Amino acid sequence: MPALDPVSVPPFLYGTAWKEDRTSALTELALREGFRGIDTANQRRHYFEGGVGQALASSYRADVVTRADLFLQTKFTYRNGQDHRLPYDPAADLSTQVAQSMASSLEHLGTDHVDSYVLHGPASGAGWTEYDAEVWAAMVRERDAGRTRLLGVSNVSWRHLAQMAMTGAETPAFVQNRCFAVRGWDREVRAFCQERRIVYQGFSLLTANREVLQDELIAGIAGRLGATPAQVVFAFARAVGMLPLTGTSDADHMRQDLASLALTLSADEVQAIESLVG
Ligand SMILES: NC(=O)c1ccc[n+]([C@@H]2O[C@H](COP(=O)([O-])OP(=O)(O)OC[C@H]3O[C@@H](n4cnc5c(N)ncnc54)[C@H](OP(=O)(O)O)[C@@H]3O)[C@@H](O)[C@H]2O)c1
Repeated sequence: MPALDPVSVPPFLYGTAWKEDRTSALTELALREGFRGIDTANQRRHYFEGGVGQALASSYRADVVTRADLFLQTKFTYRNGQDHRLPYDPAADLSTQVAQSMASSLEHLGTDHVDSYVLHGPASGAGWTEYDAEVWAAMVRERDAGRTRLLGVSNVSWRHLAQMAMTGAETPAFVQNRCFAVRGWDREVRAFCQERRIVYQGFSLLTANREVLQDELIAGIAGRLGATPAQVVFAFARAVGMLPLTGTSDADHMRQDLASLALTLSADEVQAIESLVG
């Protein structure tokens, strides 16, 4: 069982994907607005990790936060998830690629360790492969060397997780998945996580569930709470034990997303949302 200190994992993560040259300014804004968890990846195709590092440096200089206040999460991405801007030698073996990618992340982020290091996605959609086993073992070595506190996997099915467990691999501290309401909000994977005390990180809670945001059930709860439908979805995510991500580019939405942490849904409301469309 991974030693997970709940105090050091903030209740909301700010996601830095798809922000390109706005990455630094938006990450800095998110820190000013109160986010303390930052999710990035050493995958230049979708993330600008160096821009996150610039935001951290200017936030430290401006006394907005210190490194100790933050939960920094980044990812190792296989060659097939990258474009030509690789953080490792593609001819090197996978273990070396993990070590090179981690070294590059630490340089981008200006730190000697991250708080969570995540396998961005397994090598195959069909199941946990020997490639994943090699990468995971290399990630465990990075953790043992102190370059990350915790480890996670992303974009995984129940099958990936079950097969990973069957190999005797160390249990991840985190699973990070796109959370579709039509799949019972990833019910099977969440149940797997709950049984093993893995923290489930949910992304695309709004963008993958646009029909939910229009639903009258959500509108009714939002009306009762004086909240927005988006806030109700985030409050629901927290109520069922998820650690939600938001990638908003809007300061008001940043504040609203954080304010959703104070909203309380009734048990009946949680159950109704859980089975709303799947
Ligand atoms: N592991 C993976 O493969 C993977 C994949 C995708 C994403 N992620 C991570 O997850 C993060 C978040 O991605 P995402 O897909 O959840 O979100 P996203 O693509 O960043 O989009 C969030 C959307 O929700 C809107 N929004 C946020 N708060 C709102 C509010 N209070 N009211 C109304 N609209 C609101 C945003 O619009 P505004 O900008 O106008 O607020 C935006 O359109 C990424 O940045 C990345 O770090 C990981």
